[in-house]
Parts: sequence; structure tokens; C-alpha cells
Amino acid sequence: MSTFADAVTTEEPVPFDPFELQDTVAGNVVDPYPKMAELLAESPVHVGPVDLGAGADPSFSDRPPPVTVFGFDECVAVLKDNETYSSTVYEGVVGEVMGRTILQMDEPEHRMARALVAPAFRSKVLERWEAGLVRSVVDGLIDRFVDRGRADLVRDLTFNFPVQVIARILGLPGSDFPRFQRWAIEITSVATNWERGVAASADLRDYFANVMAERRASPDDDLISELVAVEVDGERLTDEEIYSFLRLLLPAGVETTYRASGSLLYGLLTNPDQLQAVVEDRELLVPAFEEVVRWEPPVTVILRRATRDTELAGVPVQAGADVALLLGAANRDARKYEHPDQFDLFRSSRQHVGFGFGVHVCLGMHLARMETRVALDTLFDRVADLRFDPEPGQDYHIHGLAFRSPLALPVAFTAR
Ligand code: HEM
Repeated sequence: MSTFADAVTTEEPVPFDPFELQDTVAGNVVDPYPKMAELLAESPVHVGPVDLGAGADPSFSDRPPPVTVFGFDECVAVLKDNETYSSTVYEGVVGEVMGRTILQMDEPEHRMARALVAPAFRSKVLERWEAGLVRSVVDGLIDRFVDRGRADLVRDLTFNFPVQVIARILGLPGSDFPRFQRWAIEITSVATNWERGVAASADLRDYFANVMAERRASPDDDLISELVAVEVDGERLTDEEIYSFLRLLLPAGVETTYRASGSLLYGLLTNPDQLQAVVEDRELLVPAFEEVVRWEPPVTVILRRATRDTELAGVPVQAGADVALLLGAANRDARKYEHPDQFDLFRSSRQHVGFGFGVHVCLGMHLARMETRVALDTLFDRVADLRFDPEPGQDYHIHGLAFRSPLALPVAFTAR
């Protein structure tokens, strides 16, 4: 396999199999949910390290004891109170690799910075991307396997379409896609390979600096052109802020959507009656997507840090304590949902915290909804009789702890 340096230095990147770089499944846990439900039943808030199957994290020993929040109402309470629970907790690892982004900012700085990037994701822009961009990316990927009658929908479809969508939204030329996908994977998997992730971050900065200079000289119809020109109340984004935001889009926008679309296909394939219903009525893709972000949120945990001594559900929280919000547990809180462990797109309550909540609620959620809906709609237009078709011994479960999704989705079908 080619080395990382190849992707940076060669004009024509050496072909590589991006899937082989994929090492981001944090925690090889198949089902952490029974343990989460057990701990939630004991108390919606726990103080001290918890072990969900990947070993308790001992790194907090010299700090105030960490707090883990399992309950739905308790997660919402933390996310609403962003003065007591600060996002600066992300300054450490995420900030070092991405640079200073809205994810780690508190108010009022966050409000101002988010107002500058939010217009780029407004619904008019999404409509244009849907019609002109997402469907053609997905069609192009399906073209490559549709005649085979068999595919691994993770490797052949869900792993590839979100990164191509983002690359096209940024207006990057097709010849740059391989190196962009490599950097995207490397920066996203920084937790498993720090040096590689930091190097990718620096290379992305250099790469974006060139693209931004081009767009300033001749603006085009793309996100980078929009970010270099945007102005709200006389404020503009600095170049460093733009690099950081663009870098954040890779883990925030690519990894999550790739995982959510795989888990949605998994949820439908393992519930053939619901798959059938969605194939016949594509409007059901809307509740189906919401249900998968509840049932198997791709990001199961987000963080905050307590700014003062406080109490949550009667449990004392010390100033300076890291607070882990288990979105996965909250989304299956038995006090809120009936049969919480079932994937059921027809359930009446669609509320969930899979996109977070409050001022930091996911900025890209409408894009994620649209691109996943279009991807599955296009797939169902092109194939009939879609069903699981694993080789003996082949694994097709949803895996992971902090991030979750299926590693493979072996299917058979008939081309339409
Ligand atoms: C199914 C797909 C997705 C899921 C489950 C998801 C989940 C989340 C969550 C839970 C947060 C809150 C983090 C926190 O409060 O600590 C968040 C924030 C964010 N997401 Fe997403 N995300 C998805 C797709 C996307 C996409 C497609 C983009 C953009 C291309 C995106 C961009 C962002 C950004 C920029 C933030 C930071 C917002 C802020 O701090 O104000 N996300 N996302």
C-alpha cells in the first residue's frame, strides 16, 4: 500500500484503498446497550469511572471525578444550561487537531461564530445540493456495483458518498478526491494514530489555503467561496477560522453520515417489513432516519465540563469535572420510550438527542437528513429485492462504543 507521503507529494495520488485506512471504530463492543440500561436503572447520573465494555478510563484520576449522564431529561438539562456545563472541554484533543472551532466555544463567542457559518447550510442551498449534487454522487457509486447483483453496502456505498458530497460542496476537483478522502480518514481517526492525524491537519490547512486563494480570485458556486465572502454585522471569518471550520466538517460531517446511513440500512435489512414499507413509500425515509439516529446514534457520547459545583438529578457534580453525556443511553431511556431497544420507524415519539440539543445542536443535521434520504431513495430506485447475503462467518453487526455502525452490509439484489 502507498504511504501517507504519496498522497501529499504526488501530483496524481497513488491509488489506495481508503477502506483499509478505516480504523476508527472506537471500542470493539457489539452491544453496550444492556449495560447502559442497567446503569441508567440504578441512577440517571453516575460519578466516577464507568465501564461499558471497553474498560473504564483511568485518565481522570488527578481531576475531579468524572460524571456520566445516562438519562434523557438529565442530558437535555445539561445541554440547556451551557453556562454551568462548558464546551471548552473540547479544547484539548479536538481543538489541537482541528484548530479553534465552534464546537469548543461558549456564548457569546459561539453565537457570533455560528451565525457566520450557518447561512452556508440554509434550506435553499440544501435544495440546490440535493438536485444537482447528492443524487449524481450516489448514482455514480451505484453504477459501479449494480450489475454484480451483490455488494457490501458499507464498502461500496455508505463509506464513500458523504466524503464525495462534502468534497463537491467545497467545489474540489474530482482529481483531488482520493487525497481528500485520505486526509478525512486520517484526521477523523486521530485518536488511534495521533501523529498521522496531526500531519493530515497541517496538510489540509495548506491545501485549503491554496483553494481559498483561488476562490478569492474567482468566486464560484461553492461553500469555500461563500465562507471567504460571508459577513454578519460587520464581522468576517479569519483564514484560521475557515481552516478550522473546514477541518471540523470532516469528522463532523463525513464520519457521522457514513455511520448513520449504514446503521439505517442495517435497521431496515434486519426488519424486512419496515424495509418493504419504505421501499413502497419513500416518504417513510424521513421517520426512518430520525429513528436510526435515536436507536443507533453514530456518536454515542459528547462532552461538557462543569464550571461550578452543582447538582444533577440530586447527584453532586464538582467544578472542573468532565461530564460525559451518553446520547445512546438517553435515546433508549425506558422512562421515555416504549420498547426502546427496537428499531421502529412507526413509533410516535420522534424526539431524540442524537444530534445533541441546545445552542450546539448539530449544524449539519438537515444536510445529513437530506443526503441519507437521497442515498437510500436512489438505491431503492436502482435495485429490487434487497436482502442480507453474508458469507459464512462474515460479520455484519453494528459495532463500536463512542462511534457505532456496521463494518459490513453484504447484500444481494436484482438490478432494476
Ligand atoms: C447523522 C449525522 C450526524 C450526527 C448524528 C451528528 C451529530 C452531532 C452532535 C451530537 C453534535 C453536538 C456536539 C456537542 O454538542 O458536543 C453535532 C454538532 C455539529 N455537527 Fe453534526 N452530526 C451529523 C452530521 C453532520 C453534518 C453532515 C455536518 C456538516 C457537514 C455536521 C456538522 C456539525 C457541526 C459544525 C457541529 C458543531 C455545532 C456547534 O458547536 O454549534 N454534522 N453533530
